[in-house]
Amino acid sequence: MSQSRNIPPTVLIIGSGVFGLGTAYALAQRLEYRNTKITLLDRLEFPAQDASSIDSSRIVRPDYPDAAYSKLASQARKYWRRDFGADGRYTESGLCLLLDETDENNGRDYLNKSLENVRDKLGLKVGRREEGGKITVLNDLSDIREVIKGMDGDLGRCGYVNWTSGWAQAEDAMKYLRTLVEETGRVKFRRTELKQLLFKNGDTVEGAELTSGEQVTADLTILATGAWTPKFLDLRGIASASGQILTYLDLTQEEQDRLGSNPSILNESNGMFIIQPSNRVLKVARHGYGYANPTTIPHPERPESGEEITVSLPRTKTDDPNLNVPLEGTKACREFLARYLPDLADRPFTHTRICWYTDTPNSDWLIDYHPKYKGLFVTTGGSGHAYKFLPIIGDRIVDVLSGKDRNQFGAELRKKWQWPKQKFRQDHVWTDGWRGGRKGMVLDEELTRAKL
Ligand SMILES: Cc1cc2nc3c(=O)[nH]c(=O)nc-3n(C[C@H](O)[C@H](O)[C@H](O)COP(=O)(O)OP(=O)(O)OC[C@H]3O[C@@H](n4cnc5c(N)ncnc54)[C@H](O)[C@@H]3O)c2cc1C
Ligand SMILES: *[C@@H]1O[C@H](CO)[C@@H](O)[C@H](O)[C@H]1NC(C)=O
Ligand SMILES: *[C@@H]1O[C@H](CO)[C@@H](O)[C@H](O)[C@H]1NC(C)=O
Ligand SMILES: *[C@@H]1O[C@H](CO)[C@@H](O)[C@H](O)[C@H]1NC(C)=O
Repeated sequence: MSQSRNIPPTVLIIGSGVFGLGTAYALAQRLEYRNTKITLLDRLEFPAQDASSIDSSRIVRPDYPDAAYSKLASQARKYWRRDFGADGRYTESGLCLLLDETDENNGRDYLNKSLENVRDKLGLKVGRREEGGKITVLNDLSDIREVIKGMDGDLGRCGYVNWTSGWAQAEDAMKYLRTLVEETGRVKFRRTELKQLLFKNGDTVEGAELTSGEQVTADLTILATGAWTPKFLDLRGIASASGQILTYLDLTQEEQDRLGSNPSILNESNGMFIIQPSNRVLKVARHGYGYANPTTIPHPERPESGEEITVSLPRTKTDDPNLNVPLEGTKACREFLARYLPDLADRPFTHTRICWYTDTPNSDWLIDYHPKYKGLFVTTGGSGHAYKFLPIIGDRIVDVLSGKDRNQFGAELRKKWQWPKQKFRQDHVWTDGWRGGRKGMVLDEELTRAKL
């Protein structure tokens, strides 16, 4: 139920990713918050290199099976197509789904179903791009070669390109948003690390205790710490960090020119994808079940109790500069490359990275007041798909926060994002549409395996 809230005199936002920075921007612009003091803190210098919102690229793909997300994504894309995506921050180069007859989702059958849906329900024009087609069907290898240039590997048997998708230069767009927030003059930025929330009487949060020992109080605390959030609240069965693999390789200028205007390529059966190269760097990655990193910590809501819980938390190059993608993961990227771009199959990765999703059981985000603690609002649970909403996500978050919907899907979205009434029994058994890789991988086990 929508309910107007009192305006807090002070707001403390913790975490400066898509969710936290977006919230700061929307709050700074709303008239009713004009007297609110807003502080945004992050443990790392902006842009935080291990945050999931910071990377060379993120796919902007508005086709969700769910109508509310799909509408929201189309709204966001309007901004990507304008100022937000200017200066190379957004490129609408299409997304190409490639299939084999043998693919799990049954090759052509799947293709036909997706296409029926677009033609009949959405009225998107099917045809060649040069002729204004928004969807181009690829019926054989020669069709595929016509849209994927300069790749002489085995590109599959059929597929389609959706020319209405693109990709964003993720770090650049975050910097752009940061500048917009700075220009409002309304937000105080601090680089400092949350140690724990300040709980009072077991029913209120009064702000944050920092690792320096300093206490920062606030009328409203907004926790937006991405995949690190389970360190500060007991989110077992609600949200959990899963490590995803990214590999990068350097290209020559000739290769960049040859491949640079291709659509992104995706195999929905194994989650592997290649985003078109930019600045002579090619990225190969996997949208997978990911690695869990089980970590035993003091119960975040009762630190003095001596009680401990085990939750999956991120481990990144900030914690361990030598941390790289386990062999299992680099092998998957190599195999993918060998198939599509055999001439690059042996090119060393210049850099690999594990980037952390904040997964929820059904991939809906978690954006709500905490059911138990007054003064605490949580916004997280990106589940690997929140980046594309960067231009507008803050507005929707503040809708929930203020209890005033400004979006026609407000009520529907609020319901999806609300604090779950029931916890899942286990973390990391989430099932969301399509994900690749094995289920149940544990980071340390995979890292050890690599050394044997
Ligand atoms: C590999 C990968 C690929 C993805 N691809 C896509 C895609 O193609 N399309 C798409 O739409 N989405 C994609 N996503 C999802 C999207 O990037 C995320 O949903 C989104 O960035 C999540 O933002 P966030 O604000 O929750 O987290 P983050 O960006 O991680 O922000 C959390 C912030 O909290 C800070 N923090 C943590 N602990 C503390 C502390 N103790 N004190 C202070 N600050 C702290 C961190 O430094 C960080 O800056 C992808 C994600 C990953 C990892
Ligand atoms: C292509 O993208 C549009 C949104 O831009 C989406 O509605 C449609 O379902 C997509 N089509 C396919 C076949 O993926
Ligand atoms: C897919 O559609 C094409 C024509 O649109 C048809 O010839 C083909 O038999 C269909 N394939 C399947 C598996 O349904
Ligand atoms: C996609 O991945 C599946 C599973 O690994 C594989 O069998 C199939 O050949 C791949 N298809 C393409 C077109 O790469």
